[in-house]
Amino acid sequence: MDSFEFNKIAGAVLGTALVVFGLNELSKIIYHAPEPEKQGFAIEVAEAAGSGEAAAATPAAPAESLGAMLASADAAKGQTVFKACAACHDGSKGGPNKVGPNLWGVVGRMHGSHEGFAYSDAMAALKDKPWTYEALNEFITNPKAAIPGTKMAFGGIKKDADRANLLAYLQTLSDSPVPFPAP
Ligand code: HEC
Repeated sequence: MDSFEFNKIAGAVLGTALVVFGLNELSKIIYHAPEPEKQGFAIEVAEAAGSGEAAAATPAAPAESLGAMLASADAAKGQTVFKACAACHDGSKGGPNKVGPNLWGVVGRMHGSHEGFAYSDAMAALKDKPWTYEALNEFITNPKAAIPGTKMAFGGIKKDADRANLLAYLQTLSDSPVPFPAP
């Protein structure tokens, strides 16, 4: 092959390479798509409103009176709610004091009056006040706020319906159940 032939071939190869390279660059310019900054889709999950701590910290103002809540309360459901109390309270007649006092007949009985239980000073100081449904409702909502200094280490039950059901269950823990307040 003479040098002329070689130049032709080399020129063709070089030319092809230039064209391919050029097209490639050209297509980059024409079809320029910005690289996504993050690969994949960003899935945004909205925080469920009113869940967890936030809801517990800000209970909705009761829409109904306690009497109205109790009129439609369900003692059987309240018995389930009472499981949160049963770790510390026995509710049976003549049953023992545990971490907390026995709760048989608690509705209508005086604060801090169950025999054989060592109450806090704060609770004992209220010994002339009966446990009404209103007082129980307030205490169970937030024990430490209702009776500062109580030794009942329990956060409280924030849901109105749960408390109403629980109070309806506490009503049954008695030989002579105390009637609910009028709606
Ligand atoms: C962690 C243990 C614990 C849990 C859980 C608990 N309590 Fe108590 N409770 C106590 C203690 C301790 C006292 C005594 C408080 C004091 O002397 O200040 C008490 C006192 C009470 C009293 C006052 C009784 C009286 O004789 O004056 C009531 C009413 C009561 N609890 C209801 C409940 C209910 C209803 C629940 C469930 C929603 C509950 N407690 C959950 C420990 C507990």
